[in-house]
Amino acid sequence: MNYLSMDDIASLSHWVKEARELKGSPLKFQHLGKNRTICLLFFNPSLRTRLSTQKAAQNLGMNTMVMNFNKEGWALEYEDGTIMDQGKSEHVKEAAKVISQFCDIIGIRAFAGLTDRSDDQSEKVLNGFKKYASVPIVNLESSVGHPLQALADAITLSEHTKKHVKPKVVLSWAPHPKALPHAVANSFVRMMQKQNADFVITHPKGYELDKDITRDSRIEYDQEKAFQGADFIYTKNWSSFESYGKVISQDPSWMISQEKMDLTNGAKFMHCLPVRRNVVVRDEVLDGPASLVIEQARNRTYAAQVVLKKQLEYLQELDK
Ligand code: CP
Repeated sequence: MNYLSMDDIASLSHWVKEARELKGSPLKFQHLGKNRTICLLFFNPSLRTRLSTQKAAQNLGMNTMVMNFNKEGWALEYEDGTIMDQGKSEHVKEAAKVISQFCDIIGIRAFAGLTDRSDDQSEKVLNGFKKYASVPIVNLESSVGHPLQALADAITLSEHTKKHVKPKVVLSWAPHPKALPHAVANSFVRMMQKQNADFVITHPKGYELDKDITRDSRIEYDQEKAFQGADFIYTKNWSSFESYGKVISQDPSWMISQEKMDLTNGAKFMHCLPVRRNVVVRDEVLDGPASLVIEQARNRTYAAQVVLKKQLEYLQELDK
């Protein structure tokens, strides 16, 4: 039972409910993880994902092993039939099978390279481990998606949405000096498509996300128009998908300010973090009462915990 994308969630509302129950009693299922180990492999940096997934595993009674693969592991080959006479020392075939002997679940973080779209879309690291590992896999952010972040965001949205209200949720691009991946935005879009909400994506022309992901989600190129009546502003930068991995605009007028938030219906501000202050969002918003960013990060634990709980229950069934 893998957790690779939002499509691996059977029922978002049930998973959110279960995560909120775990938040109320985080140690209730300690027995599930007894004598089980999760191995977290990081090919890229992390603060929240690394610590919240370890915390979730510990809450479930699991042991954790963490490896910064890019710095400490051998350079991996992913192609079949390659003559490995260049820089790659080990094939994912052996690596995944060996790691599977040491743990019960593997978590993998491997970002998009943002230079070769088809290479990124192939998710070679995640799919390589999926193909050769003999234990369940958790996506800790891959080239295309960040489903643990989106599940945490769904928890946060549910906590701040009044019962029987259909909220207006806006995903707004904001400027950034570096080319950033599409993973967070992609999974947020897929998560919102599973919600009963008025969902709008706003970005400058040229920053359209993959149409296979946005499908029929509404796009509004006028940010101020999109903000009108919004209950939640979810902000994220991403690079161009069409001009793949390029920063085609750093237009500072797209930065989130209090003036912009005042156009909304008293909206809450959301961002996955890390965030560049006064580039993506002004201090006044990030430090203000409408900011949910710290609560979002807190909910990363319960998102990971509900996923790991389901994987542990699956392993328990296999053992019967
Ligand atoms: N939001 C998020 O995934 O944070 P980290 O990159 O610090 O893990």
